[in-house]
Amino acid sequence: MKPVTLHQLKVFEAAARHGSFTRAAEELYLTQPTVSIQVKQLTKAVGLPLFEQVGKRLYLTAAGEELYETAKEIFDRVAQMEMTVADLKGMKQGRLRLAVITTAKYFIPRILGPFCRLYPGVNVSLQVTNHEGLLERMADNQDDLYILSRPPQGDDLQVKAFLDNPLVVVAPSNHPLAKESRISLDRLAQEPFILREQGSGTREVAQQLFKDHNLDVEVKLDLGSNEAIKQAIIGGLGLSVLSYHTLTSVGATQELTVLNVEGFPIHRQWHVVYPKGKQLSIVATTFLDYLLQESEHIAQDMQLPKLVTL
Ligand code: PGA
Repeated sequence: MKPVTLHQLKVFEAAARHGSFTRAAEELYLTQPTVSIQVKQLTKAVGLPLFEQVGKRLYLTAAGEELYETAKEIFDRVAQMEMTVADLKGMKQGRLRLAVITTAKYFIPRILGPFCRLYPGVNVSLQVTNHEGLLERMADNQDDLYILSRPPQGDDLQVKAFLDNPLVVVAPSNHPLAKESRISLDRLAQEPFILREQGSGTREVAQQLFKDHNLDVEVKLDLGSNEAIKQAIIGGLGLSVLSYHTLTSVGATQELTVLNVEGFPIHRQWHVVYPKGKQLSIVATTFLDYLLQESEHIAQDMQLPKLVTL
């Protein structure tokens, strides 16, 4: 193979990740013909086609896949090296890549604020996705740390629980059940429900609970966002099972209430997870330590509304 440059690899990596020369060009502030030329030169150096076009879509060839994996490893190593050098110079510097489950967005940005003030040389890329999306990112090794409620089984992951994440039944404040206590699941199941989209961990837990009790609930609406669900509840479309954290001071509203239902809250915890074999960057290790250390203060700082006695 003829020599290749880091620049060519960088352009190729972006094109492979996006499956598009145009989007790679946008990301790297280059023109589309420049991306094309760089990929052409790299193809020549490798001696095999790297992409194939089927219809409008761009796919990696086997050689392209191989090069893509290699490029990712190289850039990871370069980033690690930069961080190590920064650390040796007494600075914590580099990029922290976090992927978090949708409801973690209610508190992670609040932790990132003081963390970034403490380490101004750290840049953060924060991906917010649902349970299924997070597992896919983890399988692709796209991030440094993952925050989710239900880590996959298996002993190939480092898993640390750091905060409670109770799931509660949320209703409009003026709902007739709002004044009742010890509402049975049978009674609850007579209400229409709004659930998160397929692939959501919250949805799965709610459905499993009803299934375990042989209850059929009417799912009036599937919605891909906790905030949209809250609006739909206020709009009277139904009740929902949501993380209690969606009712934090930021998302709090007088128009919603937590129902007192048997079996609730469903106790869950947030976990921070990364593959065991992964060589965590200095920045990621620093954030992990910070998160675990700060977790005790997080719940207090978040001013969660008082959970009704169940
Ligand atoms: P979800 O996950 O965003 O996929 O519903 C939340 C959770 O599992 O706690």
